[in-house]
Amino acid sequence: MEQYVVYGGTPLVGEVEIGGAKNAALAILAASVMTDETVLIENMPDVRDTNILLQAMESIGVRVNRIDSHTVEVNASSIHELVIEDDYIKKIRASYYLLGALLGKYHKAEVALPGGCNIGSRPIDQHIKGFKALGADVRIEHGLIITEAAHLRGSHIYMDVVSVGATINVMMAAVMAEGVTIIENPAKEPHVVDLANFLNSMGANIRGAGTDVIRIRGVSRLHRTEYTIIPDQIEAGTFMFAAAATKGDVTVRNVIPKHLESISAKLNEIGCDVVEAEDAVRVVSSRPLNHTHVKTLPYPGFPTDMQPQITVALGLSCGTSIVTESIYESRFKYVDELTRMGASIKVEGNTAIIDGVARYTGAGITAPDLRAGAALVIAALAAEGMSTVDDIHFIERGYERFPEKLRGLGAQIEKVENERDIRKFRFRVV
Ligand code: EPZ
Repeated sequence: MEQYVVYGGTPLVGEVEIGGAKNAALAILAASVMTDETVLIENMPDVRDTNILLQAMESIGVRVNRIDSHTVEVNASSIHELVIEDDYIKKIRASYYLLGALLGKYHKAEVALPGGCNIGSRPIDQHIKGFKALGADVRIEHGLIITEAAHLRGSHIYMDVVSVGATINVMMAAVMAEGVTIIENPAKEPHVVDLANFLNSMGANIRGAGTDVIRIRGVSRLHRTEYTIIPDQIEAGTFMFAAAATKGDVTVRNVIPKHLESISAKLNEIGCDVVEAEDAVRVVSSRPLNHTHVKTLPYPGFPTDMQPQITVALGLSCGTSIVTESIYESRFKYVDELTRMGASIKVEGNTAIIDGVARYTGAGITAPDLRAGAALVIAALAAEGMSTVDDIHFIERGYERFPEKLRGLGAQIEKVENERDIRKFRFRVV
């Protein structure tokens, strides 16, 4: 079984290059099927989730040409079916972006209904509400969401909850609808804006992405484009909190500092020095960390995808911190693992009450999901002694070459496959 082994206690120091945003890439890949012309996408992260979505696209006839590990050409002129199988949805929820993309282009799509997942229940009522408002019929049969429309018409849609996925799906479905669509209370995440920019580069007419109202004037067709995906806000934030927790000095490069503001603000608050440059941010953690309160919120609030990482750092701060998770109900599953490393954290409902401890100690831990997995690696890097991290396939969904990038900062971490590898690692580091 593949694991990470980590020998902690070394401050992370140096520079790390941040890749393309996984969550922008997933939306953009799905949207790339909306033209029959060839689309070139650069700065594509080479992670499990994007690779599975590409496979799902190939399964319906999309031609995918990988020019290199971060550049892909997509041609959807030979799509031969509009059904996305359960297998893909089981592996990656974001396959459901093909629902909006195929509905928008072919006026029909069938995608397996995603279930809940490790971070909690994941309803899709807002996606369905948006498709219906555009004139589509939506029904759920035999585990599939089936949506079709004789004609898609622009509409005024108010989102009852701020949803990244629903905003993205409805935006794609509306791009070629007749007339104007207005989405009120949309998600404003950088990847929503990136998708709008991508679609506009294909000839769409979308205004207001990133604000409280998105206006989409339908166009009759989309055309070829070449597009570069934005840097990954969450990958960058993960390395920034790794610097904080290990008492390190890390510069994340190829980032958009504006996207990192809520993360930088919290790092400042807990006593780190954060220095912004044009496309880099440096985090220096040279003083004892302070406690703080934080609540996850839609962008520009503090991201739920950074909640486990800040909790790991606050677990090592002076005093009592409170972390409130307002987006997903089950996103504290990793706390039991952290407790095994010596953290003192009590979870009550959607709130974690954290009494800072002086140190963590290495342990055998298991990643419960993608971001919590990365956060537990940070804990292991900060801890005294050796840890093993199981279920790293979750981490590989969204972090490219994670151990390699951490080793570039001086971390002692390796991906291993068996006991022999672990013994070799132990022999080398201890
Ligand atoms: C996206 O998920 C991200 N995934 C998640 O990142 C991220 O945690 C989340 O947005 C929040 O920022 C991708 O971009 C592929 P939502 P998504 O719809 O779109 C409720 C990661 O680690 N809701 O914004 O599924 C929902 O229950 C992943 O990279 C409804 O009630 O999230 C949640 O409470 C994990 N009805 C809230 O909205 C709906 O129809 C936000 O969910 C849709 C959502």
